Amino acid sequence: MNVPEFVKAKSQGRKLSVLTAYDCLWAALLDEAGVDALLVGDSLGMVFQGHSSTLPVTLEQMIYHGEIVARSVRNAMVIVDLPFMTFQVSSRQAVRNAGRILKETGAAAVKLEGGVHQARTIERLTACDLPVMAHIGMQPQSVRKLGKMSAVQRNEKQLLADAIAAERAGAFGIVLELMSSEVAARITETISIPTIGIGAGPHCDGQVLVTPDMFGMTGFKPKFVKQFGELRSQIIQTTRSYIAEVQSEVFPTSDHSHQ
Ligand code: KIV
Repeated sequence: MNVPEFVKAKSQGRKLSVLTAYDCLWAALLDEAGVDALLVGDSLGMVFQGHSSTLPVTLEQMIYHGEIVARSVRNAMVIVDLPFMTFQVSSRQAVRNAGRILKETGAAAVKLEGGVHQARTIERLTACDLPVMAHIGMQPQSVRKLGKMSAVQRNEKQLLADAIAAERAGAFGIVLELMSSEVAARITETISIPTIGIGAGPHCDGQVLVTPDMFGMTGFKPKFVKQFGELRSQIIQTTRSYIAEVQSEVFPTSDHSHQ
């Protein structure tokens, strides 16, 4: 999968599947399962580092995780988030940092939060052949302004304007986060680049979920996250079996020693 194929999927009517990944173990498994793209999201600040928001995540950390994920996949396209305050200062800052991400990780594209307000930056990145995915609707990097993570930011007219501005500026795709399915449908039929929904209903051109949420590992269960697996209880149960066998001296037996 690459950027042109990703864009072409929309005209072919083929729905795109995207998941987040932050390490080689998960990246390789999700890639083997056949996911179209892996997003090294700055959600890693919350699900991987245990912060309460994505704001503390640094460029160096995104490069570190992005390089691991890009090296671990065979087919999936890898997209890496530009974290908070690595693109908002100026287009120049954005070009420098997006360039570092693509050069140092081997990823295919970057993602940034914003529509109308980031149009100039998207245009500059695209002019430098740095493919960009935009992210509109709920923008987690605006949590300080919004007050809480789930706050929906903008009305239908503004959301449509954001999507159109991002497409005109050269974005190859747009994440639509937390909006009604009607608004997401309207955006999806208006623009010609793929829309990737999260909490935005069934009419988008593709879907993205935060992988540990959809595997039931985080305990985060909002309405829009369908839990496709229940790994949390399985991991706890398996760990308890291990502890019990170590304590009761069932494990290891002599079969489990070297030679
Ligand atoms: O950081 C992230 O994982 C994201 C997805 C929720 C789209 O931006």
